Amino acid sequence: MKKMIITGENKLSGTIPIGGAKNSAVALLPAAILGRGISTIKNVPEISDRDALISILELLNCQVTVHKDELTIDTTNLKNTLIPSNLSNRLRASYYFMGALLGREKYVEIYIPGGCNIGSRPIDMHIAGFKALGADITTDGDKYILKADKLVGTDIYLRFQSVGATINLMLAATYAEGTTTIHNAAEEAEIVNIAEFLNAMGAKITGAGTREITITGVNELHGAEISVLPDRIEAGTYIILGALIGDNLCIKNIIPKHLEALTDKLKEMQANFTISSDSITISATKNLKPCNIKTLVYPGFPTDIGQPMSVLLTQCAGTSIFEETIWENRMGHVPSLNKMGAHITVNGMTALITGPTKLIGQNVVATDLRGGAALVLAGLTAEGTTVISDVEHILRGYENIVTKLTNVGAKIEIVEI
Ligand code: EPZ
Repeated sequence: MKKMIITGENKLSGTIPIGGAKNSAVALLPAAILGRGISTIKNVPEISDRDALISILELLNCQVTVHKDELTIDTTNLKNTLIPSNLSNRLRASYYFMGALLGREKYVEIYIPGGCNIGSRPIDMHIAGFKALGADITTDGDKYILKADKLVGTDIYLRFQSVGATINLMLAATYAEGTTTIHNAAEEAEIVNIAEFLNAMGAKITGAGTREITITGVNELHGAEISVLPDRIEAGTYIILGALIGDNLCIKNIIPKHLEALTDKLKEMQANFTISSDSITISATKNLKPCNIKTLVYPGFPTDIGQPMSVLLTQCAGTSIFEETIWENRMGHVPSLNKMGAHITVNGMTALITGPTKLIGQNVVATDLRGGAALVLAGLTAEGTTVISDVEHILRGYENIVTKLTNVGAKIEIVEI
């Protein structure tokens, strides 16, 4: 068990370099097994979700070499085997082995995935899509068994633009006979990154990044090289931190276009920042205007930046409405923020946040990844010392968070308890 100790109110200046996107990397690693041979994935963030996926790849007899942020995955001697619950439940993205193994091997045995407790997180659209491609799916307790003699391309309509279902079905359909079209596909930048990797392996995918993705099946995929795109959620978290307590804090290695939903809101709040081609420099300012935020699918305001953003709303002069629309349980951080002095009332998936309120350091608990990140931002802004327990949630998605923040002047450490 680890806890994080933060002494707040230190102005942060300098540069925070952004790593590769968690939510892209966690799909690219399982996707590698679709290519027979060696694949190289660059700019992989050093997060605990990466380590969990490497353990699954090694269980499947893939040879994985890690050199800093570069991973080499040799799938030549892949052995299809049951993925047990102690591995699958370490993260949500273990479910991408369903699509990848079903595509390559036409057989998968895997226990239900884990992930943050932010909602009920059904995978019915993944399952319905696999079935539409011709898979037979049974469950045995918490275990899924997916098998098919062959997969056949078809039209699949998603009732919601699900990131995970879009990626999983793209993975499985690469080896299906004929053409698959995913209608109402999610449009996230991460999906484009996965499609680029699959196409570099020899897949035929068009339309990634739009609501309609077409996959023409192939018989063979080979190893390929890809670089993970910059993490817009890590970037967004630190940009918000800059608005809270930055003094020319530069967030670098970003794609500003992917962050427009956030920067538009920061403009509305009259935050003090400038945007260059690959960075944003931001300083804290007084008298931020309150604003209303509603999380939406891409390119709307990302649900994963909602919790960090709620901390900034505590510093705005007036009442803001923060409405979460994707996950029914993304307010777990609010009791901790209120304990620190915030004025937030929650009604279902909507929070009313009235500010500005002075935040005071407290002992708090990270209930999930982004809620935990929100507490880090609150702790860095607050007077006195904040102690966050259950920081393992945060380490699942923010690489080298202590080093990155210490380098810009934060007083932050992680201790074992
Ligand atoms: C991905 O989750 C991300 N996780 C999440 O990031 C992110 O919040 C989410 O996309 C939305 O952007 C990964 O990429 C590993 P969805 P995913 O399928 O794919 C419902 C973070 O903090 N749904 O787009 O699981 C679902 O319940 C995390 O980094 C079904 O009903 O999200 C939710 O309400 C957390 N049936 C909505 O769709 C399904 O079969 C969106 O889910 C699938 C989803």
